[in-house]
Amino acid sequence: MRNLVDILDFSVEEIDGLVKTANDIIENPEMYSDSCRGKILGTLFFEPSTRTRLSFTSAMMSLGGSVLGFSQAASTSVSKGETVSDTIRMVSAYSDIIAMRHPKEGAPIVASRVSSVPIINAGDGGHFHPTQTLTDLLTINRKKGRFTDMTVGICGDLKYGRTVHSLISAMTRYEGVKFVLISPKELALPDYVKADFLDKCSSEYVECESLEDAIPSLDILYMTRIQAERFDSPEEYERLKDSYVLTKEKLKDAKPDLSIMHPLPRVNEISTDVDDDPRADYFDQAKFGRYIRMALILMLLKTKSVSDVRTGGEEDPTLICKNPHCISMTERGIKRLFKGGACIYCDQKASKV
Ligand code: NCD
Repeated sequence: MRNLVDILDFSVEEIDGLVKTANDIIENPEMYSDSCRGKILGTLFFEPSTRTRLSFTSAMMSLGGSVLGFSQAASTSVSKGETVSDTIRMVSAYSDIIAMRHPKEGAPIVASRVSSVPIINAGDGGHFHPTQTLTDLLTINRKKGRFTDMTVGICGDLKYGRTVHSLISAMTRYEGVKFVLISPKELALPDYVKADFLDKCSSEYVECESLEDAIPSLDILYMTRIQAERFDSPEEYERLKDSYVLTKEKLKDAKPDLSIMHPLPRVNEISTDVDDDPRADYFDQAKFGRYIRMALILMLLKTKSVSDVRTGGEEDPTLICKNPHCISMTERGIKRLFKGGACIYCDQKASKV
């Protein structure tokens, strides 16, 4: 059984395979319309979603399968205090594959340890969002025809933006990719993302605050929303919410083949006057999400032999995870586990007790 908790659960070759299948599905959708007949996808969304949940639903239906699930935890036994583990034990008895989104970081790891069917992480707090990254990679493949030798600007909320963390970790594996990280200092990329991905792969990156200064050098501009729901202080959000607004005017010095991407939803960060620019790829990007998720469901349902339920990590009474958004803070009955001084659920550096 395979899961997709973190984009690095898949090798570069496996990602190439998914992109190839997704492109084939786009060309020949009728060849796939019965591929999952009789199979059920569980979509468990403990947090709001439009594109991710509906594109998963559309993907499974386009493969001839069925879907069950919920779009708000309030309507389920979670509101009665049920743990993630118990919910997953139940739903894995009712479905063949599960896509879940949860506000707590590391919740899909907890799920993958008790599930009898593959678990797909559809976003865990401000941590990771690997299926958005697959969508982003399919978009880059179709718009640029390559994953190597490019300058990728990522702008906005790099601290809480889970799509950013997964995209960076995926793209550090390709040759010649340089990152320009554009954010206010308060929303800079977390240290664990720098250490675990950028530094580990010796990737070239610069951090800056000016979108205007960065634009001319970019091949891809990946805009992101300031993640209101993750801020501890509403005043801080109000102060930072309009840090970046991409307008037609700001694109005047951009490359003619720039690709402007955004995982969506947008709030103010891309003005609607950019939408008719031929370089605006974000609506196509959202469309591609359906096809790459079809490819992903097919792959995970086919793989019988491998078991990658995460192991590793040790209990350490001298360490504690102090991340208030980590699943280990709320889930009853799980072991607090650490690896290399970091919490295995949220990847944040552990503190001494
Ligand atoms: C993103 C998410 O949920 O993290 N949206 C998505 O899945 N397409 C981005 C966001 O909410 O800002």
